[in-house]
Amino acid sequence: MNSSGIILITGGAGFIGSALTRYIIAQTAHSVVVVDNLSYAANLDSLASVAHSNRYSFEEADICDSEAMDRILNKYRPIGIIHLAAESHVDRSIDGPKAFIETNIVGTFSLLQATLKFWSSALNASEKNQFRFHHVSTDEVYGSLGPTGKFSEKTAYDPRSPYSASKAASDHLVHAWHHTYGLPIVSTNCSNNYGPHQFPEKLIPLICLNALAGKNLPVYGTGANIRDWLYVDDHAEALYLVFSRGRNGESYNIGGEAERTNLQVVERICDFVDEFVSADKRKGKSRDLISFVADRPGHDQRYAIDATKIRQELGWQPRFTFEDALKNTIRWYIDNPAWWQKILDKTYRGERLGLSNVVVNA
Ligand code: NAD
Ligand code: TYD
Repeated sequence: MNSSGIILITGGAGFIGSALTRYIIAQTAHSVVVVDNLSYAANLDSLASVAHSNRYSFEEADICDSEAMDRILNKYRPIGIIHLAAESHVDRSIDGPKAFIETNIVGTFSLLQATLKFWSSALNASEKNQFRFHHVSTDEVYGSLGPTGKFSEKTAYDPRSPYSASKAASDHLVHAWHHTYGLPIVSTNCSNNYGPHQFPEKLIPLICLNALAGKNLPVYGTGANIRDWLYVDDHAEALYLVFSRGRNGESYNIGGEAERTNLQVVERICDFVDEFVSADKRKGKSRDLISFVADRPGHDQRYAIDATKIRQELGWQPRFTFEDALKNTIRWYIDNPAWWQKILDKTYRGERLGLSNVVVNA
């Protein structure tokens, strides 16, 4: 692989895409072009630390817009694409699945077509051989586990929410474009991520900001559902490794080896908030704010990843423990109200999430 070539990252203004962009600019000699349509989930503040690098460029475009994608591909001539652009929140997919079909399925199809045209007509044999289309997907495509077992790359797909069904469809499209048209691809299926810069509709930032504001902490059902949590910087490292060294046509599972019930996660967040925010600036113990609310329809019980393949083939394993990285994450939200206050000021779904008018006196 050309170690200083340009990597095109779709969805690079989102949570994981911005972490990946920061990682590649800091740790490699590559240039990055971020393509993002700046949907509600995007935040250019998350890219502020790389914005002045001469190895970083930004293009505002929708992956469904094939003319824009043709133009961008021919302008930058990337050595590969890491495709993260997606609608990513399960609850939103239940309330309004259409956008998930449009971006995750039709958008991935459009991007594959634009990429195939570029790959087959604009590159020489060596460039074609080294090119990679890396699709970033989720463990949710495998469905829901009982108390034992883990998802491996061989587990049959069994998606159960509109979100996971749309990601499963896009995975199948990417692998079909490889088998049918010869497009060089890799794909990854990762467990739940957490870390700084995550949009506060997802569990960890939502609970943290509500606890800081002394508001109820909504736990779906009994809080017994289990997720396998991965720190976003560990994911970024794994993504770059698979992109640069993964075998053509293969998929790799990525997980954090950190299974926790939702209630355990919420309780740890409460403990860290209470540790970091002095008692006179809180309205009592954060754990007292925990509120069990109606369950999510079709709520998957348990996810767990068997990451043997990426560990054995590429030597990857998470660097961060859940305890340390969760602590860093909570500290980051307390220290960076400017990042999330703008989101709350838009009162984005504020009423439902109980997020409006948060004031932090840490
Ligand atoms: P995110 O919602 O924070 O970011 C998605 C980004 O994609 C946003 O910047 C958004 O503006 C952009 N985008 C959406 N539609 C677009 C379109 N049509 N054209 C161009 N850009 C568009 O999501 P995230 O949590 O960073 O997830 C990134 C990827 O990783 C997704 O594909 C998701 O399915 C996958 N993933 C996420 C997790 C997780 O825990 N967050 C876990 C496994 C896999
Ligand atoms: P989420 O962060 O939405 O990720 P995903 O649905 O992709 O796993 O939710 C993580 C878990 O937390 C999931 O089991 C649903 C649960 N949850 C709550 O209990 N309360 C909440 O307010 C939210 C947003 C999620």
